[in-house]
Amino acid sequence: MNPVLKASGICKAYRGVVALDGVSIELPAGSITGLIGPNGSGKSTLFDCICGFQARDAGSVMLDGQDLAGLPPQRIARMGLRRTFQQLRVFPELTLRQNLLTAAQAAPGFSYLSELLRTPAVRAHERQMMERADAMLEEIQLTRLAGALAGSLSYGQKKLLELGMALMNEPKLLLLDEPMAGVNPTLVEGLKEALLQVNRRGIALLIVEHNLKLMFEIAQRIYVLEQGRLLVQGTPEEVARDERVIEAYLGRRDPVTGEQGAPLD
Ligand SMILES: Nc1ncnc2c1ncn2[C@@H]1O[C@H](COP(=O)(O)OP(=O)(O)OP(=O)(O)O)[C@@H](O)[C@H]1O
Ligand SMILES: [Mg+2]
Repeated sequence: MNPVLKASGICKAYRGVVALDGVSIELPAGSITGLIGPNGSGKSTLFDCICGFQARDAGSVMLDGQDLAGLPPQRIARMGLRRTFQQLRVFPELTLRQNLLTAAQAAPGFSYLSELLRTPAVRAHERQMMERADAMLEEIQLTRLAGALAGSLSYGQKKLLELGMALMNEPKLLLLDEPMAGVNPTLVEGLKEALLQVNRRGIALLIVEHNLKLMFEIAQRIYVLEQGRLLVQGTPEEVARDERVIEAYLGRRDPVTGEQGAPLD
């Protein structure tokens, strides 16, 4: 099967500091892939370079066989590649339903004038998007809070809302940057189920996560970055027993606290 995403030789430096040095990844359609690595190893930068939020210095990105070179992030999102951010991006002053609607696609092919005149076709599209928002609220199990302000949600609920926003236009591929970070342990299982549910619909997931236990449970393949380079890739079992990974990532002691890296089980 053709890969849904093929990124080849991605390089990125920030004012001389090399963040990515020739990273290549390939994601089979409908798969779950993990991207792990120590802090500062380039995981979020890789997301930025794939989605067009940062210009790459070198390398190419193909989405479903289409070259994304030079395309702006909004266009890439409309083509079916969505992402969430490490720092939450929801609108606290808007209701949950309104947040979801901000992520809805503009009516395809409608002119500014037809939007202004609110033609029947535009109204039908709006109705459709409203229904979609309500269906999404059901899916993320926040229907009871549809009219509440997003600012009043718990952190974990905001993460769920952000997931819903990324799913409004049914992407082919979703990039999740630390979906579990800061989430109350009681919500982690729910969020994991939500991700598996999304994947069962055929949406491929690329997940950056420091919760390795979860990552090893749900990913079919894992890429390990270290200092901007791909250290290892393989199945969770292969990665877990790779000496280089244990040394570079899991065996590292925090220089401040002296704590050992997160265990795998
Ligand atoms: N906008 C930026 N400007 C300058 N340097 C940056 C920028 N974004 C990232 N960097 C640097 O690039 C390197 C990779 O950072 P990146 O945020 O991609 O790492 P990460 O693997 O996502 O880390 P973490 O696990 O802490 O989120 C780091 O050295 C970081 O300081
Ligand atoms: Mg990051």
